[in-house]
This record gives sequence, C-alpha cells and structure tokens, in this order.
Amino acid sequence: MTLSGKTIVVTGASSGIGGEVVRLARFSGARVIGLDRNDPLITMDGFVKADLGDPASIDAAIKALPGSFDGLVNAAGVPGTADKALVARVNYLGLRHLTEGVIDRLTPGASIVNFASVLGGEWPQRLDQHKTLAKVAGFAAGEAWLAAHPVPQETCYQYFKEALIVWTFAQAQQWFLASNVRMNCVAPGPVFTPILGDFVTMLGADRVASDAPRMKRPGFGDEIAPPVVFLLSDAARWINGINLPIDGGLASTYV
Ligand SMILES: NC(=O)c1ccc[n+]([C@@H]2O[C@H](COP(=O)([O-])OP(=O)(O)OC[C@H]3O[C@@H](n4cnc5c(N)ncnc54)[C@H](O)[C@@H]3O)[C@@H](O)[C@H]2O)c1
Repeated sequence: MTLSGKTIVVTGASSGIGGEVVRLARFSGARVIGLDRNDPLITMDGFVKADLGDPASIDAAIKALPGSFDGLVNAAGVPGTADKALVARVNYLGLRHLTEGVIDRLTPGASIVNFASVLGGEWPQRLDQHKTLAKVAGFAAGEAWLAAHPVPQETCYQYFKEALIVWTFAQAQQWFLASNVRMNCVAPGPVFTPILGDFVTMLGADRVASDAPRMKRPGFGDEIAPPVVFLLSDAARWINGINLPIDGGLASTYV
C-alpha cells in the first residue's frame, strides 16, 4: 500500500484522527498538505489555515491549495455539543463546498475520503430528506433549506453524518464516471481523540452505558488511519461510493 508520488490534502489535520492520517500518508510516500483552523502540531509538507464553517475562508483556502492533487481527506469535524448551525456548516455544507471547489483539480485516479461516523448509521430512516438536501446546490442554498427544515440540536451530529453518507452515495458515481475520481466514507466508532468526551456528553449516560458492553474499547487514531490510506491508494481503485465502518464491530451489533 503506497501513496508514493501522490499529493494529498487532509482537513482536520491539526488534531486526532486527521493528524494520524497525515502521519501515515507521509510515511506511505505522499506529500501531504494539511488544512485546519488551528496550527499543526506535526510535520507536514504544507499547511493552509482556514475555517471550514465559512465559505469565504474555504474559497481563500482553495486558492492556496496546489493546482492539482491526488487525494482529499475530509476529516475536520465538530461534535454535537457545538451549536447545530456550526455542525451543519463544518460537518456538511463546508465539506461539500470545499470538495466541489477542488473537484476539477483532482487528478484521474484520485480519491476522496469523507469522515462519517457509526452515529450516521440511521440514514435509511431519513433517506428522502437527505437525498433532497444532497440535490440542493451550494452553501447558502443549503443553509436556506435547513432553515426551512430545522434539525433538532440533540441529534444534529447524527443528522449531518447521515446526510454526508447519502451525499457521498448520491455523488460518487457521477464523478467516477466523468473524471475517474472516487469518493467514499469511513464510519469510525468511538475513538480516543480530544472530542471523545464531547460525544459522551452528547449521547448521554444511558446510550454510553448501552454501547459499552457491545465493544472491546474505543479505537485509537492509528487504527483509523490505515484503512483511510488504503482508500487513498490505487489498491482501492475499484472501491467507490461505500461507507466503510472502522469500529471494531460496533455497528454490526445494532442489527
Ligand atoms: N473521535 C471519535 O470518536 C469519532 C468517531 C466517529 C467519527 N469521528 C469523526 O472523525 C473526524 C475527526 O475527528 P477527531 O476525533 O479527530 O476530532 P478532533 O477534534 O481531534 O479533530 C478535529 C479537527 O477538525 C478541526 N476543525 C474543527 N472545526 C473546524 C473548522 N471550522 N475549520 C477547520 N478545521 C476545523 C479541528 O481544529 C481539529 O483539528 C470528525 O469528522 C469526527 O466527526 C470521530
């Protein structure tokens, strides 16, 4: 599994899982450009500071990114303890805005990896809503649609991870057929990173207590990065439009 010769952009690169993806992608031969609102804590080949909740900041970041590259990892995200408008902007609308803004710069054979979550697993229950939102083009129009179709604060994190999975399914094949660019989601279970405590607060004691016996333990960031690097690599060239659980089996226990 090599990323030799590839240039990869990783959002959320300054912490947690994104940082582990940066580390492993570089070890695997890639030149890695990080993108985050916070300064990086590890070595990268380039870094762009930007707020992925703000379309103007994203547009400025797009100008600062390389003219062409071979992979995009959308790992930046905020937990559901943040205001639901921010969750919508960073976890969904901003991710889409960035991805659509660079799609023409991705080389044939390139790969996009979006960070969903085990908590996005109930997307079939709201499939029609998510398909409708997936067709609403642009950041501002997306915000307007969400103002008319409000999402509860308590489940906003789940809602926008579900929406991300459905957008990925709805969009992936079109880009693969047109430009040979693949796009997939990964769905981690709980992972030891700085936002794990926020997820515990967000889900509440009952859900945490019911999930605990279903899993060995939360994962580590360096257990999430290898499947992401695989999806970025040419070894995954026939994998497109999937949502890959990386959760030590947790999702399988909900069946
Ligand atoms: N940790 C978990 O248990 C877990 C589980 C499932 C999915 N995820 C998802 O994995 C991804 C990575 O999460 P993590 O656990 O590494 O979290 P983290 O908080 O360690 O890292 C998130 C990164 O995103 C950046 N970020 C947040 N808002 C931003 C903004 N507006 N503009 C630019 N950068 C911004 C942060 O600065 C940070 O560096 C997220 O999408 C998260 O939803 C995490």
